[in-house]
Amino acid sequence: MDKISHSVMKKDHAPKVSGRSVYVSDYPPEGVLCGKMLRSTVARARILDVDAPPLPDGYFYVDARDVPEENAVEIVLYDTPVFCRETVEYIGEPIAMLCGPDEKTVERLRDECRVRYEQLEPVLDPNRAQETFFEYKFGHGDVEKAFAEADKIFDETFETGYHEHAYLETQGMMAEPEENGRMFVHGSAQNAYYIHDAVKRVLGCGDGGVHALQDVTGGGFGGKEEYPSILGCQVAVAAHKCGKPVRCVLDRREDMQCTSKRHPSVCCYRAAVKDGRVTALDVDVLFNAGAYSTLSGLVLQRAVFMAEGVYSIPHIRVHGRAVKTNTTPCGAYRGFGAPQVFFAVETLMNHIARDLGVDPLVFKAAHLARQGDLTATCGRYHFPIPLPAMIEKIDRACGYRKKAVSYGQPQSGRYRRGIGLSLCSHGGGLNGATENELTKSVVRLHKNADGTVEVLAANGEIGQGLRTTFPKIVAETLGLPLDKVFYDHPDTARVPNSGPTAGSRSILIAGELLRRAAVKLREQWADGQEQEVEEHYHDPDFLIPFDMEKMEGDAYPAYSWSVSVIELEVDTLTGISKVLGAYGIFDVGTPIDRNIVMGQMEGGFLQGIGFASMEKMAYDRNGFIRNNNFADYLIPTAKDVPNLKTMLHVESYPFGPYGAKGAGELPLVGAPAAYLAAMEQALGGRPLHHVPFTAEDTILALAKEER
Ligand code: MTE
Ligand code: MOS
Repeated sequence: MDKISHSVMKKDHAPKVSGRSVYVSDYPPEGVLCGKMLRSTVARARILDVDAPPLPDGYFYVDARDVPEENAVEIVLYDTPVFCRETVEYIGEPIAMLCGPDEKTVERLRDECRVRYEQLEPVLDPNRAQETFFEYKFGHGDVEKAFAEADKIFDETFETGYHEHAYLETQGMMAEPEENGRMFVHGSAQNAYYIHDAVKRVLGCGDGGVHALQDVTGGGFGGKEEYPSILGCQVAVAAHKCGKPVRCVLDRREDMQCTSKRHPSVCCYRAAVKDGRVTALDVDVLFNAGAYSTLSGLVLQRAVFMAEGVYSIPHIRVHGRAVKTNTTPCGAYRGFGAPQVFFAVETLMNHIARDLGVDPLVFKAAHLARQGDLTATCGRYHFPIPLPAMIEKIDRACGYRKKAVSYGQPQSGRYRRGIGLSLCSHGGGLNGATENELTKSVVRLHKNADGTVEVLAANGEIGQGLRTTFPKIVAETLGLPLDKVFYDHPDTARVPNSGPTAGSRSILIAGELLRRAAVKLREQWADGQEQEVEEHYHDPDFLIPFDMEKMEGDAYPAYSWSVSVIELEVDTLTGISKVLGAYGIFDVGTPIDRNIVMGQMEGGFLQGIGFASMEKMAYDRNGFIRNNNFADYLIPTAKDVPNLKTMLHVESYPFGPYGAKGAGELPLVGAPAAYLAAMEQALGGRPLHHVPFTAEDTILALAKEER
């Protein structure tokens, strides 16, 4: 194991486990107004008027009329309002915020507001959407010809549901007007700069008129990428009006009902097969984006770029759309659009193989992309693809091949077993040309006269370990002990913009910039002096530049790889299934800290198993999410998957810090396909097409079998 991979105590371990960490809800309430949101109770309507009760002294009603500049939150587009415009577009959309010193009084005032709506017909079904937020099309080869010459054509549709992030800490932001006139916005978030830029625009002040800080954050998983910008603008507008600090922390029900989730998807895959090989893929991806566009464009991009899976198919055409419905806006969630398409392409490959009478793993292995092959977007796999070796390792670890043969025999008892395997990859960094042309990350190192070094970057610690791993990279490069290097919570007033915490990019992109900055500092090191060095991102030379018009080029510089296996037992009487084993092998390059990376692998894998098996959001005819609490929306715990084994395979990446690649999202991506494949086998081999696949689905499938 590389020296840098040796595990250390996380820098935020002691304050977190002792309860000393200060989260946004922990700041003392004195002098801070509590904000509570008045939300739409209907999916689509024109607001005729709002009848608010008389407000006691010191209490405020804040809505769109109080926004000093434009009522639009900067995300990718500007369609999300701070507070609703003339219409509401989904259940839970913020209409106004009630603020005041006493929480109970604020709640009562909020509940006494009467909203008169002129109801409009909502669009809830993405198949009937009238508006497309984002649409992408690309491909290569001659798809029509390949289909015309095919021996057999497969045409299947795959669906996935909502997926709630279920971070421990709900969304919460606070805004404080400072004496110098600056607005200070801080709270639970992934990206302080996103908040800074959005608030700046809404308040109509310059760069210096606002600064944003990420407080200690109890998990994000993608859900705190853009939502804190919206909530941050709301508290900033309220603080601007009230002239006092305002804090708004969502309760769990509001958070589950009203904040972003993973996009429900419908993926239609057509495959042409000739002489036992897939010669062409024609893919159509449909994402239900919800009421506003938020991050859907970026999430959809990753989905379409990864639609080919880990294979190299000569002829491919991909079409993706993210459409508007009158439901809660969806956003980023670990995997960023890729889990939906990997679920589809992996399940499709299993179905084709079984139809042809070939073992699915043999069939997949025959189609694997290899170093030098074209990607779906006419980029290249520049580096070795270690999947064949990883497959052998996992087979030795869990006996996949033997079990697959044994569970493939006809089963008849009450308890039936199955095992499934999936192959996935994850491109590190933001999509296409984003890193080079838009994000343009900058990091700095500040050396104090006493020889300690501070990391100045914007990436958020959200449980994935950056407060430890960033300093580890710098300390290792400078040859300093780890306690001499610090990484504090980013404040935009102090740190440069090293880009968002998203797309598993922090170590790969910002971590490498920090390593290079540390090399520079080492060369200039002068004892007893204060020094500062800076590094800027440029794409590595080998990269084929990405053309967003043509959708061509390298969508990502480097890929991480996974093989996921799930073994389960179904009780055919109750429909309940038990995961007997979840085995994963992951290549994320060199782990910057082995324990941290193993924690990432285990947590992500378990989250993916929840998505595949039990996390079903139930919503009514109006789009109201009924199970908006953890009694009714179940997520897996360690008890649900006691036998979770993860391993690392290291294919180090020469352009990442110490050989590291993107790590955080990959372990989730393969779980749904592996789970469904195991389920299909346990249920006798009939093809299935959706996740989550719950106990209820199992009973329905068994009932069909009996008929
Ligand atoms: N791990 C924990 N504990 N908490 C989180 O919120 N977010 C995931 C992943 N792992 C998350 C996590 C997501 S969605 C991403 S994109 C990456 O961490 C971001 O971190 P990185 O850029 O450091 O890889
Ligand atoms: Mo992660 S979904 O890119 O925050």
